[in-house]
Amino acid sequence: MAFTYSARSRAIEPFHVMALLARANQLQADGHDVIHLEIGEPDFTTAAPIVAAGQAALAAGHTSYTAARGLPALREAIAGFYQQRYNLSIDPQRILITPGGSGALLLASSLLVDPGKHWLLADPGYPCNRHFLRLVEGAAQLVPVGPEVRYQLTPELVERYWDSQSVGALVASPANPTGTVLSREELAGLSRTLKERGGHLVVDEIYHGLTYGLDAASVLEVDDEAFVLNSFSKYFGMTGWRLGWLVAPPEAVPELEKLAQNLYISAPSMAQHAALACFQADTLAILEERRAAFAQRRDYLLPALRELGFKIAVEPEGAFYLYADISAFGGDAFAFCQHFLETEHVAFTPGLDFGRYLATQHVRFAYTQDLPRLEQAVERIARGLKTWQASHAL
Ligand SMILES: Cc1ncc(COP(=O)(O)O)c(C=O)c1O
Repeated sequence: MAFTYSARSRAIEPFHVMALLARANQLQADGHDVIHLEIGEPDFTTAAPIVAAGQAALAAGHTSYTAARGLPALREAIAGFYQQRYNLSIDPQRILITPGGSGALLLASSLLVDPGKHWLLADPGYPCNRHFLRLVEGAAQLVPVGPEVRYQLTPELVERYWDSQSVGALVASPANPTGTVLSREELAGLSRTLKERGGHLVVDEIYHGLTYGLDAASVLEVDDEAFVLNSFSKYFGMTGWRLGWLVAPPEAVPELEKLAQNLYISAPSMAQHAALACFQADTLAILEERRAAFAQRRDYLLPALRELGFKIAVEPEGAFYLYADISAFGGDAFAFCQHFLETEHVAFTPGLDFGRYLATQHVRFAYTQDLPRLEQAVERIARGLKTWQASHAL
């Protein structure tokens, strides 16, 4: 039988890196030592106190649904974290626990996007954002951003790209794939510009905690009406537990709760119990050690790649990615990634996965491997560049 799939489903692009990942796994199965720099996931497993709390929750029989908004104790713990880290007093009633930051994105887009309405997004950016918009029949208005604006939307860009169908902007700080952070003043500028236009501001703060040499400001410090996505995946190292949260203005919460009830009933119960251990001093000490390890990796890989001729115009201050311009080497980014995978068994992601703007001349490296492994990767990349350049002389 020939199935007919919805136009909305057909409009969603797969991750291009998946084809490379499948090939990487094949090479690995054939006995090759593949260095994975393509995956947007910390290499550390979940910290022991969180795992222990999860095991205890299972043993205690916490296997049922929770309230759609999430466990009250977890919402209070998150509010406490805002107080401690940002000196912000957030009413726990404004916090909804979601299945990953992805669940928070689903809630926010279901709440805020009407068919045909435009949302401004930075290009390059996290690809799922525009796909979530498409699923709710909205449209991403991709705004090309380069190093001159540190790959972030600015008030000027919002003014320039805003049209009669625009209703909001979604930004990420730190951003994927570029790792750049929006300052408190920049967030305030965006918030003001959107308010002047009656638009919503959604800020993805899921890489908060993974910033190096600074702490990222939350948009909630300057705008109480913004929607904030966050996650236990990255800083808290719980990708597979599928847990995140959304902070919303108080009046939006009942509507979001209704959506949560219908879309997924509740976030995973045992994950929520496990996450209660995230905010303990012993857990935070482990997470801070990991943050220091990521900083060290960035401080190694960034100059090492620049030395090889990769152009990384803006020093990323957060997340665990380096977004590099490969135009000095000639050729197309996807073929470039294929070349390094096939000849040197190093996997990284082509720019096409993050948008359109100059995508074929960029690649993303995730420093989700330890230092010795990164050093090996750099050796292999140096060697692979020679063979690439031999066939792609400019
Ligand atoms: C910018 C950004 N937002 C959201 C997500 C979703 O992550 P999760 O659903 O694991 O919280 C990711 C995952 O890589 C991301 O990079």
